[in-house]
Amino acid sequence: MGNNILAGKKGIIFGALNDKSIAWKVAEKVSAEGAKLVLTNTPLSMRLGTIDQLASQTDSLSIPADATSVSDLTSLIEKSMEHFGGKFDFVLHSVGMSPNIRKGRKYEDTNYDYFLKTIDISALSFHKTLQVLYSMDALNEWGSVVALTYIAGDRAVFGYNDMADAKAMLQSIARNFGLLYGRKRHVRINTVSQSPTMTTAGSGIKGMNDMFTYVDNESPLGNASAEDCAGLVTALFSDYTRKVTMQNIYNDGGFSSMIPIPWSSKTTE
Ligand SMILES: NC(=O)c1ccc[n+]([C@@H]2O[C@H](COP(=O)([O-])OP(=O)(O)OC[C@H]3O[C@@H](n4cnc5c(N)ncnc54)[C@H](O)[C@@H]3O)[C@@H](O)[C@H]2O)c1
Repeated sequence: MGNNILAGKKGIIFGALNDKSIAWKVAEKVSAEGAKLVLTNTPLSMRLGTIDQLASQTDSLSIPADATSVSDLTSLIEKSMEHFGGKFDFVLHSVGMSPNIRKGRKYEDTNYDYFLKTIDISALSFHKTLQVLYSMDALNEWGSVVALTYIAGDRAVFGYNDMADAKAMLQSIARNFGLLYGRKRHVRINTVSQSPTMTTAGSGIKGMNDMFTYVDNESPLGNASAEDCAGLVTALFSDYTRKVTMQNIYNDGGFSSMIPIPWSSKTTE
């Protein structure tokens, strides 16, 4: 049970594939805080994943949409407005995929058709979503939009490949659209930079297990879990963060603010 900090709010959650997904944990948390939801993912992910279980658990409607397709996004937002009986309040973009990573291509041997797909799925889809929301005037005043990112969008992280470039673009889109949407409707747009998390997408990154353990050991507070991320996103959807916009907010136990020194791990003296 929550504290009802999202009572009366309605929104769309992209990217819940299975119960490991960060979006899954966000959906559970915002629903427990009183929000009404539409869940969306690609038609294929909806067939292969377990989103129906989440939909019944949170009493939500699920609508398939490929986030790279403007016509799918338009229909998703039309149907969501129909379902909610008008405008809504928040959107979570929890979408990412790199064919270069999936197919084991190194950064210095990038396939450019794959690279364009990475950018389209992991960054442009966010611009497309925002543009459709903006043109349909679908969000209420003081609405809130969050996209998930990773520190490789700011610093070079070995093995993160072309997803690093996509994340840098995603963060830039949040700032630039945040300026426009803030002025037009007081809608805030932020990115949350999450610790390594053991999900389907996360596990595809080279060396993920070692990275997860290393960062967990080095971060003063340890890695932030998917549940921790859900807590922060819930706060960002709530009225307690009305003046937070165009920010990249680290949810990483402090890792991004330190230089790890292996011989001093975990010591306080
Ligand atoms: N797991 C991590 O370590 C980590 C760390 C920081 C940020 N993130 C980010 O969190 C977000 C969610 O990833 P996750 O770790 O929960 O993994 P996940 O695999 O559970 O979620 C990724 C989702 O993207 C969806 N997706 C892929 N292509 C799509 C498309 N064309 N249209 C709509 N949806 C599409 C997938 O179906 C899936 O549901 C991603 O943006 C990811 O980059 C993850």
